[in-house]
Amino acid sequence: MKVVVLGGYGHYGRYLARKLAEKNLVTTLVIAGRSFEKAQAQAERLGDKAVALRVDLFGEPKVPDAFRGANLIVNAAGPDHLTAVPGLRLAIAAGADYCDLNLSWRATEQALAMNRDAQGAGITAITGVGAFPGLFSLLAMHGVGRFDRVTALRMGYCMSVQAAFGDPKSGAIAHTSGQEIGAALAAVIHGFSGTARQFIEGRHVDLPAFGPAYTLPLLGGGAIEVHTQGSAEPITLPASIPGIETVTMGAGFSPPQVNALIKRHIDALGPGQEEAVVAAVRKDLAADPERWTAELREDVTKGESVCLEGVKDGRRARCLVEPNWNGEAFAEDASGDVVTGGPLLVASLKLLSGEITAKGVFAPETCFSPGSFFEDLRREVNLFTERDGALVTEAFVFLD
Ligand SMILES: NC(=O)c1ccc[n+]([C@@H]2O[C@H](COP(=O)([O-])OP(=O)(O)OC[C@H]3O[C@@H](n4cnc5c(N)ncnc54)[C@H](OP(=O)(O)O)[C@@H]3O)[C@@H](O)[C@H]2O)c1
Repeated sequence: MKVVVLGGYGHYGRYLARKLAEKNLVTTLVIAGRSFEKAQAQAERLGDKAVALRVDLFGEPKVPDAFRGANLIVNAAGPDHLTAVPGLRLAIAAGADYCDLNLSWRATEQALAMNRDAQGAGITAITGVGAFPGLFSLLAMHGVGRFDRVTALRMGYCMSVQAAFGDPKSGAIAHTSGQEIGAALAAVIHGFSGTARQFIEGRHVDLPAFGPAYTLPLLGGGAIEVHTQGSAEPITLPASIPGIETVTMGAGFSPPQVNALIKRHIDALGPGQEEAVVAAVRKDLAADPERWTAELREDVTKGESVCLEGVKDGRRARCLVEPNWNGEAFAEDASGDVVTGGPLLVASLKLLSGEITAKGVFAPETCFSPGSFFEDLRREVNLFTERDGALVTEAFVFLD
């Protein structure tokens, strides 16, 4: 089968292309991006199956000849708010199935609005199959299945400022994309700019992005401190959870004092200035690394939280859901390849094997069942391990 990887020499695209090249099912792999040289170098590393292609998603490209006969287009290009819709448009024009890592709430709305075009082209397109959204959306759905009724879903993650921006003390770089800033960081900063659409009291509401800090509990104890962030989950998940009133998404950097610095630069420079924001933040971090990277508080930490509230066994309850991470997979995953690229790989393989027969544009939670997806993740990338006979732990607290 023939697969095109847009952004196939970027950080996640490289991981995905390498994994797909190992599969007998994949006979041709097109590595695409704006640099033919980089695509060529990556294709050479992958061997005979891989070919290089220059494509610019910003140039409203015609379907390149190299896309003809493609079974699947995987869009690992970014940042998503600029690349997801043109990538999907190309897949529709090429008549190839599609999946991406899209976290942008606006691009998600636009992609879902292309449902009829995708149906008309007879393709299956899945948007937002990374970690957030993607894996954690499915974890949320796993939690939903444990309730009688869910009223609120609050999701969030907190990452270290060094992992995102680079370490101002050691000079270690944050990202292996070879770009000045990787698309992932650009997308995160973009999600903190302007407005962030959330789902509150049964309707979508536009809140200022990077609003006041709030905490989300962690299953193992402690909490993360996050700020409202624009992301796909509040756009897509309400449709899959009958009667839900609230779906929110938050993110933050650790240690927490650094958030005020990052927000100041985002507010001063405005949306669309992600590179300038990152440059300004890096300059301030380098000028006073102790101040911005010192762990001054013990009450918050890094991590990911999926927190549901609702009714279980007739009682009001809260539930935290976490994967049973396989420590070994994580040790090899310093840059998050597996947590983000693993779900994209599993989605790609499910599409290639014809497991998803519905046509149109879908969020991951509308076409994958959590249990089978987690099993595939364990088999393909060893991301989960069994604890008490399960790949996922959920912890209920009754509130009355
Ligand atoms: N859902 C999630 O959990 C999740 C998590 C992490 C990341 N992401 C998303 O994943 C995406 C990729 O992140 P990354 O860290 O891998 O980024 P990256 O290393 O910067 O790679 C981005 C790739 O996209 C290509 N690209 C950019 N503009 C393009 C264009 N106009 N036409 C064709 N190719 C283009 C780049 O190559 P050229 O610039 O040479 O064209 C590069 O190969 C980001 O958008 C990010 O938001 C999602």
